[in-house]
Amino acid sequence: LTAQKGGYRFFMEKEIYEQYEVMSDTMIGRVLDNEISFEEIDENFLDGISRIKLCACGTSYHAALVSSYLFERLSKLPVQVEIASEFRYKEPLLTKDTLFIVISQSGETADTLEALKMAKHAGLKTLAICNVDNSSIVRLADTTILTRAGIEKGVASTKAFATQVMVLWMLSLYFGKRCGVLEDSQINKELDAIGHVPTVLKNALDIHEKCKRLSKRYLHGHGFFFIGRDIFYPLALEGALKLKEISYLHAEGYPAGEMKHGPIALADAELFTIALMPKTLLYDKTKSNVEELSARDSTILAISPEIFDLADDFILTHNHNHPMLEFFEMMVVEQLLAMEIAIRLGNDVDMPRNLAKSVTVE
Ligand code: G6P
Repeated sequence: LTAQKGGYRFFMEKEIYEQYEVMSDTMIGRVLDNEISFEEIDENFLDGISRIKLCACGTSYHAALVSSYLFERLSKLPVQVEIASEFRYKEPLLTKDTLFIVISQSGETADTLEALKMAKHAGLKTLAICNVDNSSIVRLADTTILTRAGIEKGVASTKAFATQVMVLWMLSLYFGKRCGVLEDSQINKELDAIGHVPTVLKNALDIHEKCKRLSKRYLHGHGFFFIGRDIFYPLALEGALKLKEISYLHAEGYPAGEMKHGPIALADAELFTIALMPKTLLYDKTKSNVEELSARDSTILAISPEIFDLADDFILTHNHNHPMLEFFEMMVVEQLLAMEIAIRLGNDVDMPRNLAKSVTVE
């Protein structure tokens, strides 16, 4: 087993460290000089499509939420995101101009599979974004894009999430081009950023020691709020989920601008705020939300490339010229931080209590 872990303490750690390599696999043949290409998708795939519905569970649901921002921005297609277990019983109104996208690492999650069946039954065009070839979801969907993350053993998903987000980002560009809503200059800017992702994931690992040191300060307290705006909001949800899954500490993800509508009532020195403060997206807005929390005495851990005086602790990220690059770096920080806190608490990081890698019952 130790050999399988390649010298790492846990599979989760190995999988975090592998992310830059698997990401290159995800991109092979798909990122070309001046365009994105998916051989899985045929020419007229988007004919008759005017909206997108995404459906998933758990971490895959968070990837869906991230992509809802990207699809609307880059493809100009209206997007709705649904939790599969909710979607199934809400008597959803499905129209045939909807592309139904399911996201699943395992391809076996019961709720996601059933949601896919419902969409097919309603005659919708379906697309699966999945990590396991020949899984139930892959067999059922009209078309599949494989994420190519390799086998993921840690119950808490890391590299699968990273590759899902990458596929969805590439897809939003691909659709944007097909729908004729993206200028070449915009596409080139996005492609340039995409090309930097593996390096960003690799360099982000430099922060590991710092996360290890910081982890000892974050073992007690009322709980954690991960906050962010825009795509950093679903990243906050994902950071909170990672921490919950493996440390068993209470954590919530929240939109930074929404804290004042309730949760700020919880703020005191025992409340830990993990603030995602990217430089390239809504920095000043997020900063003023964090200042409000700091004024109520919340303990602040800021993750940002910009020094923030009011933070109790700081994780300084690199400067990047694209929000998605900041996104991927902060994703790694969240993963390492959750893992180090869980290890310090003596938990089995790869097999957390009460959880299963894939949930094949309703
Ligand atoms: C389980 C796992 C989660 C995962 C979720 C959805 O709850 O513990 O890590 O995100 O299922 O799984 P899927 O395979 O459909 O992505």
